[in-house]
Amino acid sequence: MVYIQRRETFSASHRLFNSAWTDEQNEAVFGKCSNRHGHGHNFQLIVTVKGTVSSETGFVMNLVDLKDIMMREVIDQVDHRNLNEDVPFLQGVLPSTENLALAFWARLSPAIEARGAALHCVRIVETENNFVEYYGE
Ligand code: NI
Repeated sequence: MVYIQRRETFSASHRLFNSAWTDEQNEAVFGKCSNRHGHGHNFQLIVTVKGTVSSETGFVMNLVDLKDIMMREVIDQVDHRNLNEDVPFLQGVLPSTENLALAFWARLSPAIEARGAALHCVRIVETENNFVEYYGE
């Protein structure tokens, strides 16, 4: 099994806010990440795909195809958007980085499998110091 990776970036805003809670509860759990009008990040999305190497192409998967899938399924939907308001597939989702990883996996995995490879990991870099990885389970 060989693993390949592709990185794309996007800029977006979000607010960590649970509408079932009081403002005081949100403030206690999320702190300034719950400020009313949100805040922004320059996110990185790193996708790892696994598969066998084709004897014809030498590829696990054509990275151009992987880039196209990442752009269509995720980046074009979230770049320069408010993740609480503007993204149809995130409606009703608290847009923590963990929940973004789950939602991105659900969109990326079928498209990658349709290309004969398998999604191994969705990694999101939110800040220089905070990262989330999801392996599909
Ligand atoms: Ni944030």
